[in-house]
Amino acid sequence: MNKKFKPLAFKEKTEEEMIAASNLFLEQMKKRRTVRNFSNRSVPEEVINNAILTAGTAPNGGNMQPWHFVVITEPAIKKEIRTAAEKEEQEFYNNRASDEWLQALKPFATDENKPFLEKAPCLIAVFMRNHILDEQGKKHKTYYPVESVGIATGMLITALHFSGLATLTHTPSPMRFLNKILQRPNFERPFLIVVTGYPDNNTEVPEISKFNLEQITTFK
Ligand SMILES: Cc1cc2nc3c(=O)[nH]c(=O)nc-3n(C[C@H](O)[C@H](O)[C@H](O)COP(=O)(O)O)c2cc1C
Repeated sequence: MNKKFKPLAFKEKTEEEMIAASNLFLEQMKKRRTVRNFSNRSVPEEVINNAILTAGTAPNGGNMQPWHFVVITEPAIKKEIRTAAEKEEQEFYNNRASDEWLQALKPFATDENKPFLEKAPCLIAVFMRNHILDEQGKKHKTYYPVESVGIATGMLITALHFSGLATLTHTPSPMRFLNKILQRPNFERPFLIVVTGYPDNNTEVPEISKFNLEQITTFK
């Protein structure tokens, strides 16, 4: 195997700069909230492309990059996705979800109706690849695809938020209908849909809180 290395592009910050940067980023990220009411205003294509490229920089098992993103702005396709998603969500809310699960969802006032899937200007369907095909069409298993695509999706959401767009992480499971509608191969598993756009006027979000440092961390 041909080992090729190059110098790391790393510029050390002073401690003050690091602390300032971390505080600034934390304050930005605290403002990210899941939005369920979107305006139909279109969004700059370059922002979406850059957010996907950001996701594509994610660390991942063996650098197999086991992800594929489908950007959907076409109204007819959004409508098809909404119809299929609402069918699954009806089943979820009426039969599939446990009482405990429905109870946990109460604060978000969600139901089987998903108008944002048509109204939001852009849906990004994230697919996870269980294997990849090389140039000769030979299959290669991917490593840690769930962890890798989870990290990439987090970076995608972060990039969209940082650029000034709102997002909704949507999982109308099972999501196999996405393979059919979006003509993706079977070895790609739908991971989730990132709905993105501008929040509608006067959008409100549930009043929830996040755990503090002590609640989520152990220092040894
Ligand atoms: C994997 C995953 C799946 C989610 N699925 C849905 C969904 O299908 N519908 C929805 O309205 N919210 C969904 N959410 C959003 C969560 O409800 C939301 O992130 C959580 O309530 C915390 O709120 P915040 O994002 O505003 O901090 C999902 C979030 C994650 C991470």
